[in-house]
Amino acid sequence: MNIDPRPSVIEERLKNIKRVIAVTGWKGGIGKSVTATTLALLLAKKGYKTGLFDLDFAGASDHIILGAKGLFPKEEKGLEPPVYEGVKFMSVVFFSENKAVPLRGANVSDAIIELLAITQWGELDFLVLDMPPGINDAALDVMRFARKAEVLAVTTPSVLAHDVLSRSMALYKNLKVPVLGVVENMSPGRARAGVSACIKTDTGLEKAIGRPSALLKTAFARDLSRTLKNLNLP
Ligand SMILES: Nc1ncnc2c1ncn2[C@@H]1O[C@H](COP(=O)(O)OP(=O)(O)O)[C@@H](O)[C@H]1O
Ligand SMILES: [Mg+2]
Repeated sequence: MNIDPRPSVIEERLKNIKRVIAVTGWKGGIGKSVTATTLALLLAKKGYKTGLFDLDFAGASDHIILGAKGLFPKEEKGLEPPVYEGVKFMSVVFFSENKAVPLRGANVSDAIIELLAITQWGELDFLVLDMPPGINDAALDVMRFARKAEVLAVTTPSVLAHDVLSRSMALYKNLKVPVLGVVENMSPGRARAGVSACIKTDTGLEKAIGRPSALLKTAFARDLSRTLKNLNLP
């Protein structure tokens, strides 16, 4: 008998969120975090109620991309994410730094599920999940528990990245997880088969890290914005 209460708790928590977009990719360093963070900033700027949740325990970086310092969720019948640049922001880094460790002893997967169960997002149009690379237990659990999630897959033009991409697509199909689209990042601009949109390498991106307003003015953000239109996102 399955007596794990968390799936129904998570369903309840995500009830008032219209769309959950999981930014995934089977490799590290391919632009998942810049994509997820910029996507959240773009949606918030357009007036959508937006949340961003960095779930990458090993490489949380959205707080650095945002330049968000000194933030911490408020304990209010669970955890209320701080609002930064119009985005409700939650990150595993809040719990893995030397601040507060309410999750001692729990493994990463349990910790992520716990955070999904206790975070109070309230009403949102979009919740963007910055996923850990690959499809480890934690990533699978997110897909299993956050049943609303749609995948936005990030890849690079490399043959190797495309190889793992096709395997990941087969897995999502198997798991019946809807795939919103595939973004080829750091792309020469000629999309391979299966790619919905391309984002070019932007030499100015690095300088905008940590500065949300500068980030939104980059060629990267412009390309991503165009990509969203291709994917029927606002
Ligand atoms: N289109 C791009 N142009 C230039 N640099 C990029 C681009 N996409 C990602 N990067 C850089 O690549 C690095 C890795 O990106 P990141 O989002 O952290 O990858 P991941 O989350 O997949 O590990 C970062 O330094 C980021 O600024
Ligand atoms: Mg990342």
